[in-house]
Amino acid sequence: MVAEVLDALKPQRNGRYADGTLGGAGHAATILAASPPTGWLSGCDRDGVAAEAAQKRLAEKFAGRFEIRRGNFSEMADWIPAASCDGVLLDLGMSSPQLDSAERGFSFQQDGPLDMRMDDRQPLTAADLVNDLSAGELAKIFWEFADEHESWRFAKAIVHDRAQRKFETTKQLAELIERLALGRGKKSHPATKVFQALRIAVNDETGSLKRGLAAAVKILKPGGRLAVITFHSLEARIVKEFGREKTRDYTFIGGVDVPELRRPLAPEMKWVGRKAILPGEKELEENPRSRSAQLRILEKI
Ligand SMILES: C[S@@+](CC[C@H](N)C(=O)[O-])C[C@H]1O[C@@H](n2cnc3c(N)ncnc32)[C@H](O)[C@@H]1O
Repeated sequence: MVAEVLDALKPQRNGRYADGTLGGAGHAATILAASPPTGWLSGCDRDGVAAEAAQKRLAEKFAGRFEIRRGNFSEMADWIPAASCDGVLLDLGMSSPQLDSAERGFSFQQDGPLDMRMDDRQPLTAADLVNDLSAGELAKIFWEFADEHESWRFAKAIVHDRAQRKFETTKQLAELIERLALGRGKKSHPATKVFQALRIAVNDETGSLKRGLAAAVKILKPGGRLAVITFHSLEARIVKEFGREKTRDYTFIGGVDVPELRRPLAPEMKWVGRKAILPGEKELEENPRSRSAQLRILEKI
């Protein structure tokens, strides 16, 4: 959704921008290309391979106009000055190189270690969760992070099977779920949700997103815009709730929102556009992975 992001952030020659999810630096490069000669970009990715690739790509054309750090966007406000940015982008989820590299362990379609870490400096892997958590804890992850209706059955089967042999590979786990879901005639692969849930848990994606949104507000200037691209309903829900809270013109006491207990409060942000922007037909044709993308834009007041 490059054109849509450019339209949201409207990069200017003296503008300062932050990209919390550099990935292959596609968006970052277009932001810098649209803000010559002095537009500046601060970018990060928690994936070391991505941060390094982005550094190389941007250095070719935009030397002296960006700073890249390896790290979580939830910590952006620790190194990007407060109220300094005209635009912040969070393009959530996975990059194609992550999904396509079997050894990263994100994909049930390729065999690899059951890893799923975006940042390989962290010790916790998907194998640790699958081999160590109780059935109840696993079921909770599958249900809360992916609405998996078979959460409990899948979790119990995992705990049963791992008593014989620990789970070490993506194939082992995908095959178990396939066996359990046999004949259910689902449109997507039966392990889709289990893999999504484990990935979210391993990388604390919901916690990072909540902290990242708060960090984005801090580093934005008044009038600056936040563009967030989500890929599943849980992410979208977090962004919508954040937007509802920041755009509300009242607060309430006692934790219960009843009209009698409301007090006026200046909102911190306003929505740009009432609905999420979806990828156009051309993008869907060129990049089927964009089918669940939704872009939401908020402006700091
Ligand atoms: C969909 S890709 C971004 C693609 C990028 N916009 C481009 O144009 O190439 C998402 C990237 O965000 C990174 N990422 C996800 N969550 C992150 C977080 N909390 N902090 C930093 N990077 C994160 C992933 O490692 C991945 O490289």
